[in-house]
Amino acid sequence: MTAGRTDVRPDGTVPFRATFGRSVGLFAAFRKEQSDPAFFYGKLAHDTIAQLRSYTPLDGRLVVDVGGGPGYFADALRAEGARCLCVDSDAHEMTLHGREADVHAVQGSALDLPLRSGSVDVCFSSNVLEHVPDRIRMADEMVRVTRPGGLVYLSYTLWLSPWGGHETSPWHYLGGSYAAERFTRKNGHRPKNDFGRSMYAAHAKEMLRWVRGRSDVDVVDVRPRYLPTWMKPIVHVPLLREVITWNLLIVLRRR
Ligand SMILES: C[S@@+](CC[C@H](N)C(=O)[O-])C[C@H]1O[C@@H](n2cnc3c(N)ncnc32)[C@H](O)[C@@H]1O
Repeated sequence: MTAGRTDVRPDGTVPFRATFGRSVGLFAAFRKEQSDPAFFYGKLAHDTIAQLRSYTPLDGRLVVDVGGGPGYFADALRAEGARCLCVDSDAHEMTLHGREADVHAVQGSALDLPLRSGSVDVCFSSNVLEHVPDRIRMADEMVRVTRPGGLVYLSYTLWLSPWGGHETSPWHYLGGSYAAERFTRKNGHRPKNDFGRSMYAAHAKEMLRWVRGRSDVDVVDVRPRYLPTWMKPIVHVPLLREVITWNLLIVLRRR
């Protein structure tokens, strides 16, 4: 919350520094994702919401977390005073890691958000776009439910990044279907993130073209979510950006 903070800007946002050390810390924490998910997702959520606060004040704001899963981001949002609603299509995901289902979570699809147009202050989504078969539709839905002047925070893992194939990486570089079949052979079950079923090839190019085609949003920021600020220009370099950006963050303000 803002009380007692000395670094709050007049518009209620708080500066965020994407340093090299912060990136190292995030990647180090990622190594504990399997053994200590609460630690990793708690740290990631804290970092992400601090980043979100550099674009919009959160205290008292209505935020929808699209594909919020077990609700780590909802916790971090509420700690900043936001009113948060999670929408996720999978009831099982909402209780992952032994977590209680959030009382402010609803089961619903990102492709058809169960919300009125222009009804939320902030529409937030982390690492969901690569899991839906129609990325443009999900992004359109996020803009639709955001009120004029409100913020869209959309971040997703790029298919050609080293983690693009999730647990089937790096074999996705030889093709998503091949990587999924190889994983199935080795592990005796299909991967959770199964190419063509629950994971798709999401590229930067497609979504940046979508942004340019919309006349009802202003671009606030486009950056590699986890990387230091000095690496920001990479998002303007075709092909290279698909590999190096890792996770693309698009921040928009609804007109
Ligand atoms: C990789 S998890 C991300 C969870 C959380 N947002 C995070 O960043 O840690 C992907 C989430 O998206 C949800 N999801 C996948 N397809 C969806 C859809 N069509 N509508 C809503 N949620 C969806 C999954 O159930 C899962 O909780």
